[in-house]
Amino acid sequence: MMKLFAANWKMHKTQAEARQTAEELVRLVGSGLAADREVLLTAPFTALAATAQGLAGAARFSVGAQNFYPETHGAFTGEISPAMLQDAGASWALTGHSERRHVLGESDGFVGRKTAFGLAAGLNVIFCVGEKIEERKANQLAEVLTRQISLGLADVPRDVSPQRLCVAYEPVWAIGTGLVAGPAEILEAHALVRSQLAAIFGSAGREVRILYGGSVKPDNAAEIIALDNVDGVLVGGASLKADDFSRIVLA
Ligand code: 13P
Repeated sequence: MMKLFAANWKMHKTQAEARQTAEELVRLVGSGLAADREVLLTAPFTALAATAQGLAGAARFSVGAQNFYPETHGAFTGEISPAMLQDAGASWALTGHSERRHVLGESDGFVGRKTAFGLAAGLNVIFCVGEKIEERKANQLAEVLTRQISLGLADVPRDVSPQRLCVAYEPVWAIGTGLVAGPAEILEAHALVRSQLAAIFGSAGREVRILYGGSVKPDNAAEIIALDNVDGVLVGGASLKADDFSRIVLA
């Protein structure tokens, strides 16, 4: 299985900064990208095309968006469609990121609608799940993940190509805090995700990649990526500088 090293630049980078970071990343990674690894940069809408230009078609590097609206077109002021993202060079998009759920108020049902719509529109999708600290403390990890996954993937066709869908486990308490989930916590959560994917997709559920996200840094990436059921990482803060992110990609 190809491991996916995904950057989430969040609301950072102008066009010039995005192009420069992408160019520098390709240069730093050089020919060192392991044969079983691929890299994805999820950029702000305005920087998608510039990011693609910076990558200049480098093999196993691609561009993604961080959000879209689940309609083809219409009176949805301020929103953007999957086809518009593809037109700007994106082949992937995130759904269900904790900041969309908890800052922008997206429900499990809306995240599910987006996930199915994005896949049907031809985007590859990284669907994100994760518990808040109070849910973890109340022993609700399994309950939260089960609810988010069953509603989030409810309308995804059971025969979807598993290479086109990833699930990112991002414990909310580990995002941007410097608190990284420990190996036991990651193993437990990823095993829960894996068993639910198998229940939904059968044997293909074993080929859906499960990414870990939450304070991944150059010095912890190798340990995390080596864990069972960890098929990649989704990196926020440490993906903003090409030097840091290249060290994660090469870890
Ligand atoms: P940090 O790597 O900054 O903790 O962010 C994780 C994240 O939200 C990636 O989507």
